[in-house]
Amino acid sequence: MGGTGPKPARAAPGDLPPVVARDVSCVFERRGAGAAIVALERIKLEVHDGEFLCVVGPSGCGKTTLLNLIAGFQQPTSGEVLFRGRTIKGPGAERGVVFQEHALFPWLTVRQNVAFGPTVRHLTQAQRRELADRYLDLVGLAGFSDLYPSEISGGMAQRVAIARALANEPEILLADEPFGALDVFTRTSMQRELDQIWQRTGKTIVFVTHSVEEAILLGDRVVVMTPHPGRIREIIPIDLPRPRSALDQPVVELARTILALLERRTEARVEGPRAE
Ligand SMILES: Nc1ncnc2c1ncn2[C@@H]1O[C@H](COP(=O)(O)OP(=O)(O)OP(=O)(O)O)[C@@H](O)[C@H]1O
Ligand SMILES: [Mg+2]
Repeated sequence: MGGTGPKPARAAPGDLPPVVARDVSCVFERRGAGAAIVALERIKLEVHDGEFLCVVGPSGCGKTTLLNLIAGFQQPTSGEVLFRGRTIKGPGAERGVVFQEHALFPWLTVRQNVAFGPTVRHLTQAQRRELADRYLDLVGLAGFSDLYPSEISGGMAQRVAIARALANEPEILLADEPFGALDVFTRTSMQRELDQIWQRTGKTIVFVTHSVEEAILLGDRVVVMTPHPGRIREIIPIDLPRPRSALDQPVVELARTILALLERRTEARVEGPRAE
């Protein structure tokens, strides 16, 4: 990765927090006789400016639901989610999203994909190209702009997806398992790159993952969630120097602590309601 990169986005003093979830519950009613699913129950969370916040937990604990609420794709059943003090009512350019599957447009080149958001924002062609090239450079793909998504690897496609989200210049980047479909080698290098991108841009990132290790490698704080109903079990600050390695002793110890938190909850569920 080369270039000077975009300037870090710093919050002005007195800015309200980028995201606050106030007592948020999200219930999915089921058609027919089935019981409703409580995807999230009384979630209280404040995302700090410039932080890398990871959300980890087993399948079905409500990670995607939480991210969808922040993205504005969904509304809570009760409580509210605020962006800088205002209730989130729908998607907005200040909140960029990266999904597990890259969702690039196959008929557009890499550069055109990244320029798509800026195109929608009615910038001039020169401005769009400059933005696209700046963010492609940031994710290490400066030489691949004219290729189509079918001509690049899965890891590269995810980097394009990150560049596309950043080219909209959001205040906060929301990522839902963006490396979940990648092989372990690509995943490790993508983690390192995202760490660097975060350090260079100063963006606030909310990053959802199944992987306890990934959450510890990347997060300033790790939100540990447990399922059915989806709750925040604990929020753990990760005060370790970067870049971190999965082999670092403190990383291994923290992973053990978080796994124990998750297992304790699973055992309680297996033993039945009286064990709660
Ligand atoms: N649109 C929906 N309709 C009904 N139930 C839903 C819907 N979306 C999610 N759920 C339920 O809400 C719960 C939380 O789902 P969610 O997708 O947020 O979990 P997750 O933590 O992202 O899981 P995974 O790690 O598998 O992606 C699950 O029990 C799921 O079945
Ligand atoms: Mg999910």
